[in-house]
Amino acid sequence: MKLFLDTASVDEIRRMWEIGILDGVTTNPSLVAKEGRLFEDVIREICDLGVPSVSAEVVGTDVPTMLEEGRHLAKIHPAIYVKVPMTPAGLRATKTLRSEGIRVNMTLVFSANQALLAAKVGASYVSPFIGRLDDQGQDGMELISDLRQIYDNYDFDTEILVASIRHPVHVLEAAKLGGDIATMPFGVMEKLAQHPLTDLGLARFLKDWEKVPKAPRAAIPAPRRS
Ligand code: G3P
Repeated sequence: MKLFLDTASVDEIRRMWEIGILDGVTTNPSLVAKEGRLFEDVIREICDLGVPSVSAEVVGTDVPTMLEEGRHLAKIHPAIYVKVPMTPAGLRATKTLRSEGIRVNMTLVFSANQALLAAKVGASYVSPFIGRLDDQGQDGMELISDLRQIYDNYDFDTEILVASIRHPVHVLEAAKLGGDIATMPFGVMEKLAQHPLTDLGLARFLKDWEKVPKAPRAAIPAPRRS
């Protein structure tokens, strides 16, 4: 399963990229707005880190504007996936962008039928927003299970990018159900590595290590040279 950060913070992305667990980044207009910086500067900086997949969203709502913005974004860097909303115009734009070799992440997906259409027009990623479904009393993970079944039934190669993840259990469930990618906020990714028993265990090992007799440094023989 690929792990993406859902953020436009270059600092957060750099920190996870340096650890080596990051496969990609998704951004959206709300996340970019939080940074208070020029959209293209942020996207370029993220791509320049070497992140292999960076989703950048169009804000036009009609086909010509979506196409113009999508083509422009795709030219910024080869890592770009153009994020297009799931609307009739978005479906048409996706089909055209795809025919031009531009990869699309179809976003704001809330039903299996919407995801079926996204796959049919050739989206590379489909982004079901599971947290927002949970928020309104629907089971977001049920949608991931349906999508996995539908895409496998017809051998669609669209990847299921589980979005709107709110906590580590969402990541775990998405992985068990066969989601291809999970995109999450920095805080959630940080928690994936944490467990209180790891911290306690390490503290105990280090404390016990203090009781182990240590050879004086000078007594350690230098490696032989041949
Ligand atoms: O990037 C889209 C998605 O992940 C948004 O998440 O938490 O605003 O529902 P959220």
